[in-house]
Amino acid sequence: MKIAVVGKGGSGKTTTSGVLARTLARQGHSVVALDCDTNPNLGISLGVGDDETERLATMRQTLDEEGIGHAPSWDELIERFGTDGPDGVRLAVVSRIQNPEPG
Ligand SMILES: Nc1ncnc2c1ncn2[C@@H]1O[C@H](COP(=O)(O)OP(=O)(O)O)[C@@H](O)[C@H]1O
Ligand SMILES: [Mg+2]
Repeated sequence: MKIAVVGKGGSGKTTTSGVLARTLARQGHSVVALDCDTNPNLGISLGVGDDETERLATMRQTLDEEGIGHAPSWDELIERFGTDGPDGVRLAVVSRIQNPEPG
């Protein structure tokens, strides 16, 4: 199952995403949270902490500036650029997914 949370700034996307991700994880689902926002602060809402949230955002910015395709597959993206948060939610801050694979 894939869930996308979209809406205007300040409408509650980040808060809703954090609660949804952790609630599903607590129910036993395997959850990957992808923060695609230009202001990526889902890590705060998920509870990974300020430093780790900043680290993930900086890493995305650095990779974007270098203009390279930095994750050739879904698994590698999550493995290389993800971090484990509370309740077992795996978080990654990503920019554009150009070639989504099934699943
Ligand atoms: N259901 C809600 N009820 C009241 N306040 C909320 C609710 N969801 C979010 N907020 C508050 O609204 C503000 C914006 O929420 P946020 O999740 O950051 O929005 P977005 O990610 O869409 O910009 C935050 O201060 C947040 O605490
Ligand atoms: Mg937000």
